Amino acid sequence: MIQLSTKYIKRIEHVEKTITIPADKSILHRAILLGSIVDNGTTKIYAEIGGEDNLATLYAMQKLGVNIIVENKKIYIKGCKKFNNNLLLNCQNSGTTMRMLSGLLSARNVYATLVGDASLMQRPMNRVSDLLVKMGANIQVVNGFAPITIQPTKNANGKVIGGNIDIKIASAQLKSAVLLAGLNAIEKTIIVQNVQTRDHTERMLLAFGADIQTRDMSIELQPSKLRAQNLQIPSDCSSAAFFLALGALKGKVTCKNISINATRSYYLDIMQRMGVALQVENKQMYGNEEVADVTAIQSNLKNIQIMSDEVPKIIDELPILAILMAYAKGKSEVFGAGELKVKESNRLQTIVNTICDMGGQARVIDDGFEVMGKGYLSGGITQSLHDHRIAMSAAIALACSQNGGGIKDAACVSISFKNFFDLLER
Ligand code: S3P
Repeated sequence: MIQLSTKYIKRIEHVEKTITIPADKSILHRAILLGSIVDNGTTKIYAEIGGEDNLATLYAMQKLGVNIIVENKKIYIKGCKKFNNNLLLNCQNSGTTMRMLSGLLSARNVYATLVGDASLMQRPMNRVSDLLVKMGANIQVVNGFAPITIQPTKNANGKVIGGNIDIKIASAQLKSAVLLAGLNAIEKTIIVQNVQTRDHTERMLLAFGADIQTRDMSIELQPSKLRAQNLQIPSDCSSAAFFLALGALKGKVTCKNISINATRSYYLDIMQRMGVALQVENKQMYGNEEVADVTAIQSNLKNIQIMSDEVPKIIDELPILAILMAYAKGKSEVFGAGELKVKESNRLQTIVNTICDMGGQARVIDDGFEVMGKGYLSGGITQSLHDHRIAMSAAIALACSQNGGGIKDAACVSISFKNFFDLLER
């Protein structure tokens, strides 16, 4: 059995820093995928790749035959008309890679099999294959899970059909998979979603010249050809959440040029509701995405109740928000967060375990959790269960705790944020 090393984190007395976080993981996945399928031309992306998830997408596209060069915080992608065939593509730990690639490849005349690491092989994939089958794709999963097998459809050029697609699960990955397939459909694709989820795919499709219209909860996409673009990718606001939480607990932290797209930045509203003093400055547009410098200043934290309709907007930030709840005084509750059970770990459980391992009080309640905030955590040894956001939440929790402590399998932070510990310890 492999022995995973323990990363020790010392208590930090006071912090004051300004940092630049690598590229937004969600936006960069999309930029790599769309750049790969432009009709002709080279897409130039200005971005520092944050971690292995984005590399999983990049390597998959290279294996499919796309010419991608990474040089000095720039990525050059030459659009590819015909992909290599009969490939085994390893999506590693990245659910976004697996689900979005499923959509893209389903409509592109290829034979491919998608696999991932042990965690990804246990995450539900029928949610994406069911939607793509409705669009006419030839895609199969095994008892709801990867490996995912994709084969060409019987239509000319392996196109899918398109049509009306009702998405019942609040998931941007599913919406994006459908849109990527819809680019190469015979008819237009009309998506109806129950809940608004992150809209980077819609924004980036527009930037790449696709014929797409969004109205309230519906999206209409005509089959479209894309044109190469120059893109500047915002810094990752979900990664920034860890450092803004640190600022809120221990001094002052500014994160430069992070995405403040409303479908992603709702965690800032939650932090403010908890009493965190925030400053949002230097707003500007990077293409179709808004960015700003965001500063969090040490504040007394209040407990909070988070309702189910708020959850999709903070799905990736709930682990670190839960740590803030432990540092607030009083009972905080989160309802309707069942989707956390099928993330990189069962995050309802791993969030609660992390807090309890450090001397706090928390428990899973149905599809949510509650935290009995005492205003402090004592520290201790905890484990990430190979979940990058749990490892980073634990690191911030320990840095702010009375005694510090250790995290088993903390190296998994490199899945989304390879220089997380450098920035924390600098
Ligand atoms: C993502 C969407 C979310 C999120 C994931 C990235 C994306 O997943 O948890 O980290 O880039 O579209 P779901 O859409 O499945 O909730």
